[in-house]
Amino acid sequence: MEVLSSISDIKRILSEHRIKGKSIGFVPTMGALHLGHISLVKRAVSESDIVVVSIFVNPTQFNDKSDLKNYPRTPELDLKLLEKSGVHYIYMPSELEIYPEPDTRVFDFGQLDKVMEGEHRPGHFNGVAQVVSKLFDIVEPNRAYFGQKDFQQLAIIRQMVIMLKLKVEIISCPIVRESDGLAMSSRNLLLETAVRESAPLIYRTLSEARNKVKELSVKELIHWVVTNINNDTHLTVEYFTLVDCLTLQPILNWPDSESIIGCIAVRAGKIRLIDNVFFN
Ligand code: PAF
Repeated sequence: MEVLSSISDIKRILSEHRIKGKSIGFVPTMGALHLGHISLVKRAVSESDIVVVSIFVNPTQFNDKSDLKNYPRTPELDLKLLEKSGVHYIYMPSELEIYPEPDTRVFDFGQLDKVMEGEHRPGHFNGVAQVVSKLFDIVEPNRAYFGQKDFQQLAIIRQMVIMLKLKVEIISCPIVRESDGLAMSSRNLLLETAVRESAPLIYRTLSEARNKVKELSVKELIHWVVTNINNDTHLTVEYFTLVDCLTLQPILNWPDSESIIGCIAVRAGKIRLIDNVFFN
C-alpha cells in the first residue's frame, strides 16, 4: 500500500499499470473511514487488478462552513484500517493540488438535484460533481464504487458520467449498518452519547414503515414516519420522501412507480444523518 499526494505521481504510476493491461478500481472518500468504506474497497479489490482509494475532504460540496470545519478527520486511523484491505494506492491530495484555482463549473442536473439533499443543501451536488470529475480525470478508473446510503449522490454521479461521456462504470454498494441498524457514516463519530442511543430509531422506523404499505396511503405513511421519529427528543426529521428510484421525483400514490425508495434526513442533536430503504 503506497500513499501518494501529487497528481503527476499517481497519473504516472497508474498509466504504467494501464499499459500492462491492468484494470483500475477507485473508491473516492472523504476519510474518517468505517466498515462501510471498507466494504467498497473489498468489492473493488475483488473486481479490479489495482485499487485506489482517495481521501480528500472536498470544500466545494459543503454549503455550511461549520460542517466543513467539524467534519471528522482521522488520517492515521484511516491508513491503519486500509492496511489489510488489499488496496494498492491511497491518494491524499492537498486542496491546492485539486483546486489550483477555483472551480467555476456549474453542472445542470435537471430535476435530479432539485429534491432532497439538493434542495436542503444548495450547491452540494455541484461540488460533488466538481471533485468527482476531477478525481476521475486523475485516476481514470475502469470502475468506481459508491455507497447506496448517498442514493441521490449515486444518481447525480451516474448522470455526470453520461453528461461528460466518461468511460467509468459506476458501481453501487449496499448500505452497511451498525448492529443496532444505524447506517454507518463518518458523521456518527460526532454524535453525543444520548443522541447516538436514539439514532437507531431512524432505521427501525423505516423498516417498520415498509410493512405498512398495504394499510397506509403515501401521505399517511410519510406522516407516520415523521411523527414516530420526531417523538424522540433528540431527533428531528428534516425531510422524509418517497421517490422513484430513477427520476428521484416524489410519488403521490403507491402505483406511481415500480421502484420506490424512501429517503430521509434527520437532525440528530447537532449532526445531520441520512438513510434510505427500498419500498418495493
Ligand atoms: O461520498 C463521499 O464521501 C463524497 O461525497 C465523495 C464522493 C468522496 C466526493 O467528495
